[in-house]
Amino acid sequence: MHVPEAKPLTFRHIPEALDGRAQAGLAEAVAAVLAEAPPFRPTMPRTGTPFSVNMSNCGPLGWVSDKAGGYRYQATHPVTGRPWPPMPELLVDMWRAHARCSALPEACLINLYDARAKMGAHQDRDEADFSAPVLSVSLGDDAVFHVGGLARSDPKVRVVLRSGDVLVLEGPSRLAFHGVDRVVRDTSLLLPEGGRINLTLRRVTKVE
Ligand code: SIN
Ligand code: FE2
Repeated sequence: MHVPEAKPLTFRHIPEALDGRAQAGLAEAVAAVLAEAPPFRPTMPRTGTPFSVNMSNCGPLGWVSDKAGGYRYQATHPVTGRPWPPMPELLVDMWRAHARCSALPEACLINLYDARAKMGAHQDRDEADFSAPVLSVSLGDDAVFHVGGLARSDPKVRVVLRSGDVLVLEGPSRLAFHGVDRVVRDTSLLLPEGGRINLTLRRVTKVE
């Protein structure tokens, strides 16, 4: 029997989608969001193991995870109980420019990486409609990012995500396993405290 070799699924990488000035503007807007919706440390469902990244969100819905409630979207911050701040207009513009999806994003997850943080291979599958893409924007230090296939064991391709890059998981790659192997310290001067910020924009409810 011929077993076709699993290939990493397609995705779109748009290097330098934001120039230096736009990156600085976005970093400032994200700092304002974080002042209102402070970073929190999510924990894994069931085990309660803490993530190595801190998170926050902006937009009508935010992605959270903890031992008791598991992965979910909710309209309020898990610690302050306040609604998430609005999504900076520049992020909505990025979605309009690159997502190829007429419905607007409902959630923007903000992942904050220090030099030791990483994100294990996972699928983004807590949304009701996989026809809309996941669009990620990177700021700050470089990250070694991987994209595999629909099975955790499928081969992976690696790409370095730099400050200002956009990456789109769409179509066949929408449910691909992906993650961050590591962040490369001191590769960007954008963020005063160093590290990396990744913003992932998603549609959560069904696209009409
Ligand atoms: C994620 O998959 O949630 C984060 C991706 C990234 O940090 O580039
Ligand atoms: Fe993800």
